[in-house]
Amino acid sequence: MDKFLIRGGRPLKGTIKISGAKNSALPCLAATLLTSETVTLHNVPYVKDLITQRRLLEDLGATVLTPELHTHKVKAANIEIYEAPYELVKTMRASVLALGPLLARFGQAKVSLPGGCAIGTRPIDLHLKAFEQLGATVSLEAGDVVARAPKGKLIGAETFFEKVSVTGTENVMMAASLAKGKTTIHNAAREPEIEDLAELLNKMGAKIRGAGTETITIEGVNDLGEAEHTIIPDRIETGTFIVAAAITNGELEIKNCQPKHLEAVIEKLREVGVEIKVVDETTLSVKCCEKDLQSKDVTTEPHPLFPTDMQAQYMALMTQAEGASTIVETIFENRFMHASELVRMGADISISGNTAIVKGKTKLTGAPILASDLRASASLVLAGLAAEGETLIDRVYHIDRGYENIVKKLRNLGADIERVTSEMAETVKN
Ligand code: UD1
Repeated sequence: MDKFLIRGGRPLKGTIKISGAKNSALPCLAATLLTSETVTLHNVPYVKDLITQRRLLEDLGATVLTPELHTHKVKAANIEIYEAPYELVKTMRASVLALGPLLARFGQAKVSLPGGCAIGTRPIDLHLKAFEQLGATVSLEAGDVVARAPKGKLIGAETFFEKVSVTGTENVMMAASLAKGKTTIHNAAREPEIEDLAELLNKMGAKIRGAGTETITIEGVNDLGEAEHTIIPDRIETGTFIVAAAITNGELEIKNCQPKHLEAVIEKLREVGVEIKVVDETTLSVKCCEKDLQSKDVTTEPHPLFPTDMQAQYMALMTQAEGASTIVETIFENRFMHASELVRMGADISISGNTAIVKGKTKLTGAPILASDLRASASLVLAGLAAEGETLIDRVYHIDRGYENIVKKLRNLGADIERVTSEMAETVKN
């Protein structure tokens, strides 16, 4: 298993280009299942989750060509299997995004129930309830969820999400695009990735209005067709690099991003004392820091408020800010697993339920540490960059799921980080 070896203490300097958004590319690839014609997606990030999603499409019978590393041309003309198997769902929960398109186009779909995962139980009950509102019957058969549309077609309906769900909203938006009649999604998620998916679906011929607001309406159509679409930039990768500049006292120009997608993050980091300039619609510059960083409280909330996917990175930064900050995680249970690793590096963090209190500023010292999930790994890389000495991060396959070429990108900015194999890591430890 690969590890990252980081020798901290170097300020990051230079220009970085942000990759396409993983969380947008995943549903957009799933949406290709809605048509027998070719859908071309550009700016698909080269990360493990997208390789898994591609494998799922191919297992179902789709043809996926990649004429360039970041371009996927998908033709789902000969789909004969309607199932996302357990071995894929267990490694990537977003495989459940196949459910809506398969159910809508073929009238049936089977997906393994996602098991418990590192950041909480993460059920899909809200997806299933909405499918039932669209007329599907849903049953549990030997650990699989089986959904069927009576007479092969879903029927448009009023759907309401008791809790805002990103992939739930996406699944229903895709399913309703081929349903008979009109669907309204109430309490829809408002993430930029929802708007991006709606834009792709509309290019394919869907009739979706209101994406990006809490009420989305979809007029079902009989068929969807070919389309070409460019995935939006990854706002979480952008936020992670802003924190990387801040935590190392560096200076970065961040290109190919969309600052308007991460306003809450920018605002919070400015309050803390990070100098962030919006240079233009796709460029940010970050400079840190003339004065000491100041601790500020944060609570994670659905978009447009502070994202849970930036909570771990923010916690790493708060270890380097003066004073105490309270971090409240409202989206996922059990999403503080990075905290104990940060404490091993010298951070002062106490956890009670969904609240963490970070007391700064503490000196961080390199240590062997363990990554537990995707964003937790990012937070540990950030801590390693700020720490004195060597940090060896184990289980970096988590970070490979969602950050394209993170080692190369950081090295280009002056970081001392390398990927080592298990055998090499043993030598380093001894
Ligand atoms: C998506 C993102 C993930 C991000 C999360 C929250 C993708 C591929 N992943 O995950 O990176 O951290 O949004 O912004 O886009 N819930 C239920 N029942 C359901 C569905 C969700 O109880 O049927 C709960 C979840 O357990 C969680 C909350 O609702 O507490 C929000 O989850 P949701 O928005 O669905 O997260 P994902 O779409 O899985």
